[in-house]
Amino acid sequence: MEYTTLQITPEILKFTQAVELEECISSLKEISPLKVFDSIQLQLKDLYKCLHPQLPFAAAAFEIWLKDRLADKPLSCYGNWIWYPRERDLVHLLPEEEFILVRTNRNKYKITQQEQDILSEKVVGIIGLSVGQTVAIAIAMERGAGEIRLADFDTIDLSNLNRLRCSITDIDLNKAEICAREIWRIDPYLKVRIFKEGLHAGNIDAFFTEGAKLNLLIEECDALDIKVLARHKAKELGIPVLMETNDRCLIDIERFDLEPERPLLHGLMGDLDPEKLKGLSQEEKITYLMPMVGLQALSERMKASMIEVQSSISSWPQLASAVTMGAGVAADLSRKILLNESTVSGRFYVDLDELIPQPIQLKTAIELEIRPALLQEQELKTYINKARFEPRPDLLDEIEKQNLLKACIHAPSGGNCQPWKFYFHQGNLYIFHELHHSVSMLDFGHFGTYLSIGAVVENARIYANSLGLLLNCSYFPDASNTMLVAALNFEKSFGQVGHVLTVQQLFERHTNRLFTIRKELDVEHEKALLDLIGSNRIGNLTLIKDAAEMKEVAEILTEAEKLLLLNPRGHQDIFEREIRWTKEEAEAKRDGIDLATLNMSKAEVIALKVAGSRKVMEWVSKFDGGEAFKKNTKKVIAASSAIGILSMPFQNVEAYLHGGELMERIWIKSNAMGLAFQPVTQFSYLLARAVNNGNGLNRVEYEKLIELKNQLILRFPNLNQREIVFIFRIGYTEKTPVMAMRREIETMVIKD
Ligand SMILES: Cc1cc2nc3c(=O)[nH]c(=O)nc-3n(C[C@H](O)[C@H](O)[C@H](O)COP(=O)(O)O)c2cc1C
Repeated sequence: MEYTTLQITPEILKFTQAVELEECISSLKEISPLKVFDSIQLQLKDLYKCLHPQLPFAAAAFEIWLKDRLADKPLSCYGNWIWYPRERDLVHLLPEEEFILVRTNRNKYKITQQEQDILSEKVVGIIGLSVGQTVAIAIAMERGAGEIRLADFDTIDLSNLNRLRCSITDIDLNKAEICAREIWRIDPYLKVRIFKEGLHAGNIDAFFTEGAKLNLLIEECDALDIKVLARHKAKELGIPVLMETNDRCLIDIERFDLEPERPLLHGLMGDLDPEKLKGLSQEEKITYLMPMVGLQALSERMKASMIEVQSSISSWPQLASAVTMGAGVAADLSRKILLNESTVSGRFYVDLDELIPQPIQLKTAIELEIRPALLQEQELKTYINKARFEPRPDLLDEIEKQNLLKACIHAPSGGNCQPWKFYFHQGNLYIFHELHHSVSMLDFGHFGTYLSIGAVVENARIYANSLGLLLNCSYFPDASNTMLVAALNFEKSFGQVGHVLTVQQLFERHTNRLFTIRKELDVEHEKALLDLIGSNRIGNLTLIKDAAEMKEVAEILTEAEKLLLLNPRGHQDIFEREIRWTKEEAEAKRDGIDLATLNMSKAEVIALKVAGSRKVMEWVSKFDGGEAFKKNTKKVIAASSAIGILSMPFQNVEAYLHGGELMERIWIKSNAMGLAFQPVTQFSYLLARAVNNGNGLNRVEYEKLIELKNQLILRFPNLNQREIVFIFRIGYTEKTPVMAMRREIETMVIKD
């Protein structure tokens, strides 16, 4: 007998004379050493006890019974010898029937003999043997089937050993073979068929029907195409399908035998074509898998882990405890299905966290800054009276006023919060800060709001200039009232008045979050942007065009983005206030960030939804994860032509108001030249919070922001002692298909 070291199928040997056994052992020894295990006496004792359960064990009675049983045969030739070629073990065993009798004896009467007999006729197919292995072994241990078919093309990695029952010597061996070997180490008489190429169109018929039709399919594989293919086949043949997904012990049962018209996976699979699902990337897989598994139904830890896949971990986590428990549940259901004790189809959870809840819950509630009520007309009138602004001749007709307002509200705002309210009174246009809309973690000191109002003023200037009018602007005309941010009026010009930008360009300004391939910034475009600043003595625009430098800055900016997402208030702002998840929601509210304008892939949207759970984020913070949150912005910056940093020489609100005017000019000009423009601002506003009072930040966050600032200044010393008011990226890409909306003008304006 010669065996390769990989051969795992045991061979059943029978000897009638002791000398035959001896010959066999010596010929095996000639090849290499072997181990002989002979516990037949003990096994027979066990058999005796099983056959005589009513009698206390008595050695003398057993000896008489044994003599009779052996009937002059030498003990060494009783039953069979099992040869395990890979391990080179020769094991003496009871003959099949007696072996089964003893090995299933302790099943009784949780499983009756009649049931055990029925089960011995059943054929169970299992595909996917990372989780399936434990299920297969549980079924084999119970002898819950007479034949088990195992399909998996994959081999064992060291990283499988956290949940797969095998040895370190099995690494690189096929999972189906290893599973069969584990079963045969328990029960060499059990019929096991191995499909080591995994299930595919070429062997699907053999797997499902050859010899006998499967009575149950247990589907535990990762490949989406195979999941679909196998279910189609099972449905066609009327074979029930059982799947256990070990997060929260999710069980899916599809009784195609009882309900031939049942849609695949309770209708969650739709009519997916297996051909289209082959060889998908992890990211693509997620987009198909999530609707099947149900994103919201995942455990918080699983969601947190999902965020880390292909960032700090390479694949989904699976625990031995969950796999073992799931296998127990699956083996139990398998038996009940095969015995027709269970007829149910559907989705079920055996969630230990729900069944044994923890009385002390993680504290997740956080306090949002209170939103003040919307400004009321009477209030505004009082503010205006207090400001005592001179009445002015009304130089604009009604249509012009309406157009002026349209231009004003086309200004950008952080999170598209549109933090403004307008009041026309005696030839002046007053702009108020509508705090109700702006209150947020990022709008520290209302800096973001002031930047937006600066942009509103610039838009008003462009529009006024287009009418041949000059614009006068007084910021904070009443120093004691910060709600009244600006008062504008118009003046006839006797000379030529013109703006470098047109009204049409103003209305074409927008945020474009798309990206394609990086293209160097055109020198003409660069010059044009710097020229806009040239005439303004206070602002400074740093354009970073070098790819390596941009990468360094991207690291800083994305670290701040991550920090905001993980910060409880920042998180709540983004997920509960800012994002508009559906078209309907975006159209109804007409503010916030429409998900469609984020230009995310399906997988990125899923990740965003996962990140929407505060509990998930608490887990992510606990293991210091979240690197994945940096991916998208890093990707878009890498595809950009430059990062722009607008800075001012003074650190007060004026820096933001005047900075806002400048920002708007740069933004409109960029768009007019065909450059896509996207702000990337979290860093500057979080930094402002950190260096001013640090409220709302914990020590770690505070120190991180200061460290990021120091890194930036080390790289760009010209930014030292300057207030960074705005950061953005520009590049060449396609037009964004969706534009941000604005609230109805009527809700933002009061006229006398
Ligand atoms: C102060 C400020 C900060 C902003 N920060 C970001 C940002 O960090 N990321 C981003 O994608 N857009 C940012 N934006 C863009 C706004 O979301 C955008 O202006 C708003 O949704 C309106 O859309 P629009 O610019 O297309 O008119 C910011 C805008 C302003 C004025």
